Amino acid sequence: MISSSIPLEKTCNDCINSDYCYWKNGTTPDETVCYYEEHPEFKDKNDKLNLKNKIKFSRIFSMPNSSTFEIAPIRNFVKKYLNNSKISIDPFARNQEFATYTNDLDPDTKAKYHLPAEEFLIKLKNDNIKADLIIFDPPYSPRQISECYKNIGKKCNMEDTQSGKLYSKIKNLINDLLEPQGHVLSFGWNSVGMGRKYNYLTEEILLVCHGGAHNDTICLSERKVLNQIF
Ligand SMILES: C[S@@+](CC[C@H](N)C(=O)[O-])C[C@H]1O[C@@H](n2cnc3c(N)ncnc32)[C@H](O)[C@@H]1O
Repeated sequence: MISSSIPLEKTCNDCINSDYCYWKNGTTPDETVCYYEEHPEFKDKNDKLNLKNKIKFSRIFSMPNSSTFEIAPIRNFVKKYLNNSKISIDPFARNQEFATYTNDLDPDTKAKYHLPAEEFLIKLKNDNIKADLIIFDPPYSPRQISECYKNIGKKCNMEDTQSGKLYSKIKNLINDLLEPQGHVLSFGWNSVGMGRKYNYLTEEILLVCHGGAHNDTICLSERKVLNQIF
């Protein structure tokens, strides 16, 4: 924490920890917005972003499982964030009942709703639901999407299997439903997450190696920040 006169141990709403907060002369201890842009140690914009975007990173081995949250380190990762959450949403829940609102297209799963994820999220939005945690664990590839449809005896067209299109529609709705400072947990084969487009700060990445020729599962935690950071 850099401070010209007031030593404050707290963290403002936008920095990950108090090391990045810059409390200027005259800033009251109640102030919740720091002046990190004016931090004297930032030489340029990239420097500021690199310092600010310090990501907690870990890599661990665990056997693969098609139910993502049955993989112990991933389950612990999700539970850690759920413990601090009041209202959570999981649009691709399968049999996981952790979240407040659960959905899965497959009617044979334990989810409360069985709608296409987009319809489910639009319904929550129309009901004025706001969450502080949203889980994004969709099918990871076009092939997985078509397998899901096949399992439930539904036909899918070319558009349904385009994972990029599905992700983009779902992320828009996730952003609408998430409160400022809320978290999105994303799982898959890349670390794109919500990203710069929506002004999310990556706070933690857990890389789970499954051995053999399996893809890793990349687990990402991002926070929706208030000020424009990119
Ligand atoms: C990666 S799995 C989720 C696994 C779950 N998180 C777990 O730990 O068991 C993706 C799930 O999304 C469901 N799904 C696929 N397409 C969907 C869609 N368009 N809308 C809602 N659910 C969908 C599948 O039935 C599948 O259960």
